[in-house]
This record gives sequence, structure tokens and C-alpha cells, in this order.
Amino acid sequence: MKKTIVVGCDNAAVALKDTLIKFMQDLGYEVENVGVDSPEDGTYYPYVAERVCKAVIDSGYTKEGVLICGTGLGMCICANKFPGIRAGVCHDSYSGERLKLSNNGNVICFGARVIGPELAKKILKEWLSLEFKDGSSTPKVEAIRELDRKYLK
Ligand code: RB5
Repeated sequence: MKKTIVVGCDNAAVALKDTLIKFMQDLGYEVENVGVDSPEDGTYYPYVAERVCKAVIDSGYTKEGVLICGTGLGMCICANKFPGIRAGVCHDSYSGERLKLSNNGNVICFGARVIGPELAKKILKEWLSLEFKDGSSTPKVEAIRELDRKYLK
């Protein structure tokens, strides 16, 4: 059973979002699109990040998220404010791999004004295919959870 992926973007990234949604569906993933769906929709990116992160949290963290804005940075900053969300901007293959294997990242962020669609597809496919495994990174990810408990009230 393939994972369900929740995807959102702001109006800087609608075309890349639509490309990545079709790409993931073709790979067999269940995709939930939370918008925005038009460059004319000026919903601020923090509210879209909230939709995606809430869906991941409400799923008991079984779903994963993809967030896209102009740079990926605003979405990433917002996503990491939600408990249990570990998000990273990945514009290269090594970062995408480490987001899953080192950080157990459950939300990947892209900047549509930074990365082209083919590289984004490659990074996304790799990230989706990987699973975090217990090992030397486990206590570090547990330390992130401690920070969540300590500061995210
Ligand atoms: C445009 O609103 C731009 O600021 C946004 O897409 C994103 O890049 C923010 O980090």
C-alpha cells in the first residue's frame, strides 16, 4: 500500500504543484491536493502550510507532505512550527536522501523559482521511496521531539 501524500502551494508554485501531483499519481501514490489551484489565489503560504501539516498530524503521521512556494523557505519555516513535523527544503538529491534517512523528515519543500520540474521530480521520487531506519540518527530525531515537547505549546 503506497503512502498518501498531502500537497500544497502558494500562487508562486501552482504549475510545479500540478506537475508533481500528476507525477506522484503516475507512481501510484494517493495524493491529496489542498490548493491553491490558481495564480490568482493569493492565500498566504502559512495558511497552506497549516492545511498540509494539519492533515499529516491528523493522520497520525501516516501521511507525508509536499509544500511548494517561490523559494521553499517560507513553507519550511511554517511547517517546522507544527509538532511532529520535520520539514526541509531539498533542491539536490543528497539533501532529499538525508531529509528522510538522517532527519526522518515527513514534509519536503521546494522553491518553484529555484528548481526545475525534472530535478524536483527526481528528488521527490527518491525521498518518497526511502524509509527512516533505527540507527545512529534515532536519538537525534528523538531530541527534535524533545524540543517539540519543550517549546511547541
Ligand atoms: C511569494 O509570496 C513568496 O514570498 C513565497 O512564494 C515564498 O517564496 C516565501 O518563502
